[in-house]
Amino acid sequence: MSRITSLHAIEILDSRARPTVKAYCTLASGAKAEVSVPSGASTGTAEALELRDGDPKRFNGLGCQKAVENISTTIRDALVGRDFATQADLDTALLELDGTPNKSKLGANAILGVSLVFARAQAIETNMPLYQHFANMWDGIPSLPQLTINLFSGGKHAGGQVPIQDVLVVPVAAKSISEGLAMTYDVYQAAAKLTAEKYNTRPLKADEGGLAPPFPSVDAMLADALTSIERAGYIPGEQVALAVDVASSHFYADGRYHINDQALDSTGMVALLMDWLARYPIISVEDGLSEEDWSGWQAFYGAANGKAMILGDDLLCTNPKRIQQAIDSQAANSLLLKVNQIGTLTEALTAYDIACHAGWKVVVSARSGETEDNWLADLATGWAGDYIKIGSIMQSERLAKYNRLLEIEALNDPEFIPIENLRVSPHCLISLKQSGVSTIGDIVSVLEQNSGGNFAMDGISRKLLKYLDEIIAQLKAQGFWPEHLKWE
Ligand code: PGA
Ligand code: ZN
Repeated sequence: MSRITSLHAIEILDSRARPTVKAYCTLASGAKAEVSVPSGASTGTAEALELRDGDPKRFNGLGCQKAVENISTTIRDALVGRDFATQADLDTALLELDGTPNKSKLGANAILGVSLVFARAQAIETNMPLYQHFANMWDGIPSLPQLTINLFSGGKHAGGQVPIQDVLVVPVAAKSISEGLAMTYDVYQAAAKLTAEKYNTRPLKADEGGLAPPFPSVDAMLADALTSIERAGYIPGEQVALAVDVASSHFYADGRYHINDQALDSTGMVALLMDWLARYPIISVEDGLSEEDWSGWQAFYGAANGKAMILGDDLLCTNPKRIQQAIDSQAANSLLLKVNQIGTLTEALTAYDIACHAGWKVVVSARSGETEDNWLADLATGWAGDYIKIGSIMQSERLAKYNRLLEIEALNDPEFIPIENLRVSPHCLISLKQSGVSTIGDIVSVLEQNSGGNFAMDGISRKLLKYLDEIIAQLKAQGFWPEHLKWE
């Protein structure tokens, strides 16, 4: 049980200097937490309502003082002094308090702030890394996601110089976050040089830090991404692949897709997407069709399922009902998960579960308006997202998340984890220590050296023989068992 003893919020600015919400919470145990809420620009129509003040004299109507006040008064009055055992209990109370289908009374930005800050406070209260707390919400094992990193930007994030929103790099051959970031750095540098030469511009950056030169066409944007991978010395598709966020709802009008000086119908748009898939190493197409063009999505699914991720962002809005509809009608095969599209962690987890049970891939995503908070990295790891989408490797609001992924990776490196973390019997632990084993990495290398079971080979190992079963069981239970090690 966690009793909330204080709750309040302030207005802060996001990476576009637009106001957003920062929430603070204290629990009776003394655990204190704070959390910042992100905000999108290329939003889906079915997203929960982000409450803005609408006063044109202040931040062009974008102020968040009402949302902040809702936390510091209505929500505080309803929740302070109450005990909540789980995240679901807290989120249910928030939904009841709001009572509207799209969170328009309190605002999804206020609701998410409270949902998230309670999660972080509970993690602190139980002395658990946030990613582990997120994993416990679904009884899962944390796992770091694969990176998808913005290289080129267009659309609403870059002043619309080219209609599609993102071309992303996917370092598929990387074995770690650290390696993936190093590979992406090479491609980004190559791309900055290439576009500076080609378009004779300084490296202009868009909202998420992606390069945004004046591409004459989408084709040029994709071709330049491919050339950048090659110039960085990587094999396209094999080492570094591409993903695109077409964000096509934003160039869809009057039933037509306005792209490449053409006005395509759905069939034409699907043909264009299939042409990109044929010519470029693209593994994922996000919002290839507009958010209400369900038959267009189905046509694309018919053509591309099994060839690429058909990823729904504006189409699905992390909304369990819309995801179910997409599963039933075979309109997509992957979910872009943004918790502020739906408003509470519990609903986002339901969305996630539905997608996973349908065998979909999940990409946990930031927003284009972000803050220096890094909870997204813990969420993607704790919920074991297949991929994470944060933006480019530029700007601190993005790097806060990449750096947190690096930290989680380092904290979980067996070389650094003390042997005490294996929950083995005291005698076993003494024996391990006497054998000079001090980290989980040490015991894994002892096992590797003796792979095949010839355990009496060296002196230190003989002592451990009788504890072998419990050591192996613990390594497996905690996910440290090296896959290549054949023991039994
Ligand atoms: P948004 O864009 O955060 O501006 O909505 C991100 C995306 O479309 O994936
Ligand atoms: Zn998108």
